[in-house]
Amino acid sequence: MNVNAERLWRRLEALGALTDPGSPYTRRSFSSLHRQGRQWLREQFLAAGLAVSVDAGGNLIGRLPGEDSGLPRLGSGSHTDTVPSGGRFDGIAGVLAALEVAHTYQDQGVRLRRDFDVIDFLAEEPSEYGLSRVGSRALTGDLSAAMLAYESPAGGTLAEGIAAVGGDPAALDRPLLGNGEFAAFVELHIEQGPVLEKESLSIGVVTDIVGITRMDLAFSGQADHSGTTPMTIRRDALVAASRTVAAADEQARAWLDRPEYVVATVGKLDVKPNASNVVPSGVDMTLEVRCSSDSVAQSIVEQICEVGKAASEQLGVAFSSALVSFSPAAACDAGVQQAIEAACRQGGASYKFMASGAGHDAACMSKLCPAGMIFIPCLDGRSHCAEEWATKEQLAVGAQTLYDAIRLLDRR
Ligand code: GLV
Ligand code: MN
Ligand code: MN
Repeated sequence: MNVNAERLWRRLEALGALTDPGSPYTRRSFSSLHRQGRQWLREQFLAAGLAVSVDAGGNLIGRLPGEDSGLPRLGSGSHTDTVPSGGRFDGIAGVLAALEVAHTYQDQGVRLRRDFDVIDFLAEEPSEYGLSRVGSRALTGDLSAAMLAYESPAGGTLAEGIAAVGGDPAALDRPLLGNGEFAAFVELHIEQGPVLEKESLSIGVVTDIVGITRMDLAFSGQADHSGTTPMTIRRDALVAASRTVAAADEQARAWLDRPEYVVATVGKLDVKPNASNVVPSGVDMTLEVRCSSDSVAQSIVEQICEVGKAASEQLGVAFSSALVSFSPAAACDAGVQQAIEAACRQGGASYKFMASGAGHDAACMSKLCPAGMIFIPCLDGRSHCAEEWATKEQLAVGAQTLYDAIRLLDRR
């Protein structure tokens, strides 16, 4: 093995330990902990001999120069933010594996032809502003003025948040990267599902990344006394909302026997006034639909919203829906998949081709260049929770596969 498994693991433990102590493992984007993590990462980039910069989208980049900086470059990375009460691998495994690969090239005097960028994308998880993949959207020019104006509950706009981490929101009205600037991009990530572990495989070669639609749904009824207001005249916003939640579940289940992958979730919900003896007057919730087909996703979202509208009408509740974000389903590049497969063979790692039900920065990168992903197994398929786990060896095999795949792509 070329990569240094111990160094990679030490770094993973060090960055994973930077968590909100009250809710491990939490390092929310735009928080002071996230900034602290980035400061640490910057020092690690420098220790590995990388040139460090922050782009206008707030992405932290460590560059290993190649022989010819005029050639389209190579990239790898992921994100260092987490969901609330998330795990120690989602995101940082991919950033630190990419760093380990660059550090190993440095140590061993391996000179790539092309520059190699290690990227910590800003805010891959849904941030307090409601938007996910902030940094990779900036690269592709998919941060609209409306998105930059999204506000966090604590106050302040996304544009201000990006500026506070060293980005330049004024430059985000166009893509930060052109097609052809990158020759290829490869992201390593834990699988976040049970398949590789169940089949005792070391690597997943990702073929497709699911599309994600997120909507804000708002229900506005009337607060009344819960003991004295007859059922017949209530305008209960939560009842309308719960019928919509049930519809999301039913709509997604209806696709279980079909070839398209469909899941629907209402994971965030605010109830007003949230008191046991008051009829709920308002509900704000997020609807998330993930699907392998963008057209199927659109029709499912429409049907769920129809149920929300009909239930609200029946109950005398006002209903509104607004699109927060739409990320289309993305195919990984065949040539990048081939390079990852060849790297698996070279290193003797067992592998299979598989689709990703999770969203990733690589999906945005696939709009700009040939992109692909390396999955490593995770314990019991658990992710977005404190139990999220992979072993030092599993991570090292993934990093070694990345090391070999980047070298193969560099020679193309
Ligand atoms: C990213 O973790 C996602 O929401 O899939
Ligand atoms: Mn995640
Ligand atoms: Mn992730």
